[in-house]
Amino acid sequence: MKSKCKLLSSEVNNKRPPIIDYEGSDYQSTFWDKGGREYEDQAEELALRRLLPKSGQLLLELGAGAGRNTPRYHGFERIVLLDYSTTQLQQAQEHLGNSSRYVYVAADVYQLPFVQGAFDCATMIRTLHHMAEAPRALHQIRGVMSSGGTFILEYANKLNLKAILRYGTGRQSWSPFTWEPVEFVELNFDFHPKAVRVWLGNNGFRVDRQLTVSHFRLGWVKRWLPTRLLVAMDSIAQLSGDLWQLTPSVFVRSTAVGDTPRPAPNELFRCTICGHSPLGESPDFITCSACGRQWAVQDGIYDFRQPIELPK
Ligand SMILES: C[S@@+](CC[C@H](N)C(=O)[O-])C[C@H]1O[C@@H](n2cnc3c(N)ncnc32)[C@H](O)[C@@H]1O
Repeated sequence: MKSKCKLLSSEVNNKRPPIIDYEGSDYQSTFWDKGGREYEDQAEELALRRLLPKSGQLLLELGAGAGRNTPRYHGFERIVLLDYSTTQLQQAQEHLGNSSRYVYVAADVYQLPFVQGAFDCATMIRTLHHMAEAPRALHQIRGVMSSGGTFILEYANKLNLKAILRYGTGRQSWSPFTWEPVEFVELNFDFHPKAVRVWLGNNGFRVDRQLTVSHFRLGWVKRWLPTRLLVAMDSIAQLSGDLWQLTPSVFVRSTAVGDTPRPAPNELFRCTICGHSPLGESPDFITCSACGRQWAVQDGIYDFRQPIELPK
């Protein structure tokens, strides 16, 4: 996999938190397709099946990457795949094929280009761990969800058994028991389950169910036991997730509580600069009639990362 830890200079220089760079990354092929992670992938599929609503209208997939999980959102009429990397979205387009069911958006989780209350469901899998300001990201997500909507969040858990053992035997300096995130590699964070629950509560979500996932994520266990057996054992163990969370990965299903204005029918985008909606749409551009900003639409990807520089 190519280096992912380059900070984008535009993000370092202004107030927005830094973003990890997946542009040009072969993450899907190296980490998943050839990475020996069939067990983790299938355990995550199982968790999603347990947590997803049977049906819905519009689902937002935050940090969609190459669309590994997108085919799992069977019951939804439309799916918006959001990622900061256009090359990840291009890989998702190749993977998912041409369909009006999918909308591809290049944008920053910290600055979502959607009207309030647009989505009745959102998922964020293996992406919160790149957030230096996780509560700020959760606040953005709640804003674009309808009241009563379902949010499924996966996060990397610092309170996992391996970290506890390593800390207990002096092989790890940071404590897995304290609530602050640990940045184990630049822009890769593990979180404490209690901190995540508090952040969700503070940002308008009610936690309904937790599943612990990837109980057997150990190289030698995966080498010696068949994937099917590991997934079957994980399936049972996942159910203890509301009692304790000691796995490297945790899935949480929450409900968006409190009031959110209902968007006008068919209104999806809003201006990331001035907040105006609706935006004008032509084949190549999205335009804000209030502040005049424009964003590019290229090869089926709405690019909301930066407005187009207009000639002076
Ligand atoms: C580890 S990949 C996970 C991809 C996919 N969810 C999966 O599980 O296969 C994390 C993804 O989050 C995206 N990402 C990271 N920070 C982001 C941000 N601030 N805004 C939008 N996308 C972001 C990256 O570009 C990358 O594609």
